[in-house]
Amino acid sequence: MTHLTIEPSILYVGTPVALLSTVNEDGTVNLAPMSSAWALGDVVVLGVGMTGQTAINLRSRPDVVINFPSPSQWEAVERIAGLTGRDPVPEHKQARFRFEREKFAAAGLTPVASKLVAPPRVAECPIQFEATVTQAELDAKGNFLIAQAEVLRVHADETVVVPGTSHVDPAAWSPLIYNFRHYFGLAEELGESFRTETPRKRA
Ligand SMILES: Cc1cc2nc3c(=O)[nH]c(=O)nc-3n(C[C@H](O)[C@H](O)[C@H](O)COP(=O)(O)O)c2cc1C
Repeated sequence: MTHLTIEPSILYVGTPVALLSTVNEDGTVNLAPMSSAWALGDVVVLGVGMTGQTAINLRSRPDVVINFPSPSQWEAVERIAGLTGRDPVPEHKQARFRFEREKFAAAGLTPVASKLVAPPRVAECPIQFEATVTQAELDAKGNFLIAQAEVLRVHADETVVVPGTSHVDPAAWSPLIYNFRHYFGLAEELGESFRTETPRKRA
């Protein structure tokens, strides 16, 4: 390999897309795409821009649903990519974003009631985590809310679950990947970890 020194403006090397549903101050619902979401045991750490409506909501109303769309749903995600639930739109976003309160309708997605938290789930997303923020702080530069959300309930469509178990079938499930601001699905499986819970071959 010949490595170049580059100065990319973004460092999004490819992470799953989540749609976060949260509750607005007036009781309506916000929905926003986020790719800064990763799990530590039963906690999902979220990185949420401070000027967005999602950060405002999470600081006052900690309930959240972390919905994971599949690759085929990338256009629904992109339909709300240029929207914010914040009114007025923050100044730095005004050139490229517009305010929209009805994000579910704008995306063409369907809200369905959660079991344990206030915001609804996205019916079309095969995997949904009901969660509540237990800790939140600003990042060192003050631009992002780093929120730790404890997952209270996991919903998985039966097509991605190994029958009769609590295991997601990695061969059946694919996240939607945000790769330097382009959308991808997963390619063919390369192999499995020695810690897999769903081994393909028996020793
Ligand atoms: C695929 C995708 C991933 C994104 N990931 C993040 C993220 O991890 N954190 C973040 O603050 N914004 C992220 N954004 C941008 C927000 O979705 C955007 O700022 C949006 O306006 C926030 O909506 P809200 O103001 O209603 O919360 C992402 C956008 C897209 C399309």
